[in-house]
Amino acid sequence: MRIDILTLFPELFESPFRVSMIKRALEKGLCEIDIHNIRDYSVDKHKSVDDYAFGGGAGMVMMVQPIEAIILKLKAERNYDEIIYMTPDARVYKQKEANRLSLCKNLIILCGHYKGVDQRIRDHYITREISIGDYVLTGGELAAAVVVDSIVRLLPGVLSDETSALTDSHQDGLLSPPVYTRPANYKGWKVPDVLLSGNEKKINEWRENQSIEITRKIRPDLLDE
Ligand code: ADE
Repeated sequence: MRIDILTLFPELFESPFRVSMIKRALEKGLCEIDIHNIRDYSVDKHKSVDDYAFGGGAGMVMMVQPIEAIILKLKAERNYDEIIYMTPDARVYKQKEANRLSLCKNLIILCGHYKGVDQRIRDHYITREISIGDYVLTGGELAAAVVVDSIVRLLPGVLSDETSALTDSHQDGLLSPPVYTRPANYKGWKVPDVLLSGNEKKINEWRENQSIEITRKIRPDLLDE
């Protein structure tokens, strides 16, 4: 998989992809992530990337020209499955969407800033808009890093235990059951007996019941879905 990220602040991506699983995935060649500085594509002599909003109002709007220039250049090089725009004004990202995007070959992710991007980019190039939650970040970069992380960890060969992504929270629409490791008794805080029983059927039943119970308590909306 190849992911091209379009941003005004490439520095924000310096560390998220340099550690842990994403780093390993990049080193193994399971994915390639290319960061493009939108400012480099501005033809304006001041290298402008934003301007005042027509009609007035506070905040700057990201201009069409430099963003279109990168998109056209990339599209001439390969086909893209999706051109994604990170914005709080979109449907909220869910695991199902991560699963779907992990099957794509080439993705472009545009990070919004200020008041957002000129609507004409959205109308003519963007195929998908993603919000990571109902709150507003300074820009789309951290949100893009979240989306990339959620996709890349699903690529075959990234997780050391191939099955572990399938048992993640949200993969079956439920939150995860509690987990424990050694010691079985820490200062009198005991691990539930069933987990020490060696009885796989009982352990699976217990985990499923815990998942349902925890979901009912914390995220009953997931059970409705
Ligand atoms: N940009 C600013 N806030 C955002 C959010 N919640 N999701 C995606 N992009 C954003």
